[in-house]
Amino acid sequence: MQIRISNGKVVEANAGQNIYQALKESGIYLVASCGGKGVCGKCRVKVLGGRVRTESTGKLMKKEVDEHITLACTTFPEEDILIEIPEGSKLVIGDKIAISKTKNLRDFLHSVEAGLQPAIRRIYLELTPPSLDDPASDLERLKHALSEKGVGQMHFSHDFAARLARSLRELHWQFNLDYTEDFYAVAVSSAEQVDRYGIAIDIGTTTVVLYLVNYSDGAIVDLGMTYNSQMRYGDDVITRIVHATEGGGLEDLRSAVVNDMNDILSPMLEKHGIRREDVDSVVISGNTTMAHLFWGFDPSSIREEPYIPTLNTFPIWQAGTAGLDILPQAPVYTVPCVGSYVGGDIVAGVLASQMYLKPEIALFMDIGTNGEIVVGNNEWLMTAACSAGPCFEGSGIRHGMRATEGAIESVKVDPNTFEPTLGVIGNAVPAGICGSGMIDAISELFFKGVIDQRGKFMKDLKTDRIRTGDEGPEYLLHRGGLKEIVLTEVDIENVMRAKAAIYAGVSILLKEVGLDLDVVERIYIAGGFGNYLDIDKAIMIGMLPDMPKEKFSFIGNTSIAGAYLCLLSDRMRKEAEEIAKKMTYAELSVSRGFMDEYMSALFLPHTDMSLFPTVRDLYRKS
Ligand code: FES
Repeated sequence: MQIRISNGKVVEANAGQNIYQALKESGIYLVASCGGKGVCGKCRVKVLGGRVRTESTGKLMKKEVDEHITLACTTFPEEDILIEIPEGSKLVIGDKIAISKTKNLRDFLHSVEAGLQPAIRRIYLELTPPSLDDPASDLERLKHALSEKGVGQMHFSHDFAARLARSLRELHWQFNLDYTEDFYAVAVSSAEQVDRYGIAIDIGTTTVVLYLVNYSDGAIVDLGMTYNSQMRYGDDVITRIVHATEGGGLEDLRSAVVNDMNDILSPMLEKHGIRREDVDSVVISGNTTMAHLFWGFDPSSIREEPYIPTLNTFPIWQAGTAGLDILPQAPVYTVPCVGSYVGGDIVAGVLASQMYLKPEIALFMDIGTNGEIVVGNNEWLMTAACSAGPCFEGSGIRHGMRATEGAIESVKVDPNTFEPTLGVIGNAVPAGICGSGMIDAISELFFKGVIDQRGKFMKDLKTDRIRTGDEGPEYLLHRGGLKEIVLTEVDIENVMRAKAAIYAGVSILLKEVGLDLDVVERIYIAGGFGNYLDIDKAIMIGMLPDMPKEKFSFIGNTSIAGAYLCLLSDRMRKEAEEIAKKMTYAELSVSRGFMDEYMSALFLPHTDMSLFPTVRDLYRKS
């Protein structure tokens, strides 16, 4: 059977395959927060022609069903069909997803006097060719040349020795030897090869970012990004951990992310005329689950009490073991993790933020699919993860979507008519609402008197924008188009729960160390979401503490920035290890008082308005 898509593409569907599976097999990915289980309601498609069998319509409204909108993962073609994929259902990379600015990273390396010292060292050697009078073996000859150059004990793997005889003769006994900082021989290469390359990779739950770096001078030759294809199996780490425990699931997830990396890298190398074997060093940075999945480790213990990962500090393994398509012996350094829910991405973030070098007390917040917080300075660091959930990325929100084209990113509400004015990414027809749009909308609805402090809609307002939908009261943000876009009371509750978890996380972490918010001199906001966050609005809903705006710094994707630093400098790698060791992890779920803090923060902006003086004053004036 064929599935024709309104843009002209045609996809084959095997017997028993639903639309979602058939599209996926042909490389067309839909947003599938629940991994195709018919629960999240995100994989909507419109059936324009042909007979289908639908097993469940889950979260679809009656109106949508009447318009032949269906869930791709519960709908099976019974003959050739024609479908349309709405913008909000397409898994596409928007140009609004952040890539960290790295212009200052090399300056930072200089400022901390950490010279370029990649994990791979290189030495030029010339060996005397063997003869009947000089019958020493190849390896003896190599060891002798090294000791003459003052290089101590070198270790040689079986793999290295197996390739040695041929390499030495092909290179006429004059060559570069690459070895790791702990003296493991990696490869021999032509003496003419001067430029050396490494890759720094951020494995985000949502995106994979890769820098190709010439580590002779630290220049970023190229960079690329893609959605993490593991998204096919679920939006958040928990869904993926569950998938990993199903038959073949772990390998699905491992190969999905490794293929993403190879897919980014391959055209880059071609474009710059770089051979794969000249890329001989890798640093990866990701949360603990991502690091486990990359290395093919069963992550299930991460979600089971007492939440212990297989490992936090990863030995240096080889690129070939991971399946990366570069020099197979290239060492892969994994930025160390702190615990199950504070990973190498946060360690890399603290490294890149430099908060661990300064005496001022700083707060580091990475608000992505999850919320991680670090507080501390050059003497101590304390960290916690608050399960904010992926609602800011659109999950669990009726018309939620990522910050890509068509997402409502800002909302203004007229105080008299309650009519909204929307800002949409790419000035496109609205397809849904992204995290910053939700924060904006909730703050506006609150200040314009449309919702109360508990996030409930006011009764008896003279507007048809507030109505009762399938899930209860809702505010109509956008009419018409393929679908209406609403913000429901349930959505508002979800966002309030997430923001309360983040705020309670900050409060409880500070309480654990006996400090008040006013001693915090700087707040670093990291993560892709951070780039589009309107600080004022986030304060107004009580997600961020009420502090002067100048104390906040957006520092972008610090996971890739930290990976880049580790790629170029052994001192940075050592500091990353120190940071991971130094960080005390607070498990909020068992923390006394967390629940109280959380409950108090489940209001707009908070039950204790004295914590939000700026918002209180604004509210009184409004
Ligand atoms: S409902 Fe189809 S992917 Fe979630």
